[in-house]
Amino acid sequence: MLLENKLNITDQIELAKAEEKISKQKAKQLFDSSDIEKVEIGTFRGLAFIHAYLFDDIYHFAGKIREVNIAKGGFRFAPLMYLEPSLKHIDAMPQSNFDEIVEKYVEMNIAHPFREGNGRATRIWLDLIFKKEIKQVIDWNAVDKDEYLSSMQRSVVKDVEIKVLLKQALTDKIHDRSVFMKGIDVSYYYEGYSEFKTEEL
Ligand SMILES: Nc1ncnc2c1ncn2[C@@H]1O[C@H](COP(=O)(O)OP(=O)(O)O)[C@@H](O)[C@H]1O
Ligand SMILES: [Mg+2]
Repeated sequence: MLLENKLNITDQIELAKAEEKISKQKAKQLFDSSDIEKVEIGTFRGLAFIHAYLFDDIYHFAGKIREVNIAKGGFRFAPLMYLEPSLKHIDAMPQSNFDEIVEKYVEMNIAHPFREGNGRATRIWLDLIFKKEIKQVIDWNAVDKDEYLSSMQRSVVKDVEIKVLLKQALTDKIHDRSVFMKGIDVSYYYEGYSEFKTEEL
């Protein structure tokens, strides 16, 4: 089903390309304008800010809690009736070390608060928590796509695989622009978008 969009695009391939291009431009702007420093760290409010920043030009639902139930690969994300209470609990989860941060990320993924774009927005949110709390970020280029997606599928049952996978990809280059831009490209690649390079937009 093609998502209703502000661009009035009705061709799904054209929509995918426009979404990639526009939201990557916004991701670049988020970093280069330092608007990224305005993000509240580790809360749904912060995540919604990132999601709205990336997708507001494209979708009416940008930054807004979804109004439909969604499932992927046989897993149904938080049912609507539990979504808002669950986001409040996640806000209150601790984030003082690597394990706690990944556990919080796993719960936010299970909540899956938006209609689309959860993966891409939540990975930026995750990196901001790491950056603030442990002075490291993920070098996403060191995280293989298939391993990432299978660890995330598995994470709803057991989080050991995603912890191992992310831990080996930690880097101290927390202010490095190219680590950020490349990370956006890899994050989009996980979700099937690899037409444009963020740096070149
Ligand atoms: N079966 C699954 N179980 C748990 N998490 C999943 C599953 N499939 C995908 N995910 C997570 O959901 C993300 C994709 O969510 P989605 O809202 O489509 O984000 P995006 O639009 O950015 O691709 C993946 O990056 C992964 O983290
Ligand atoms: Mg998606």
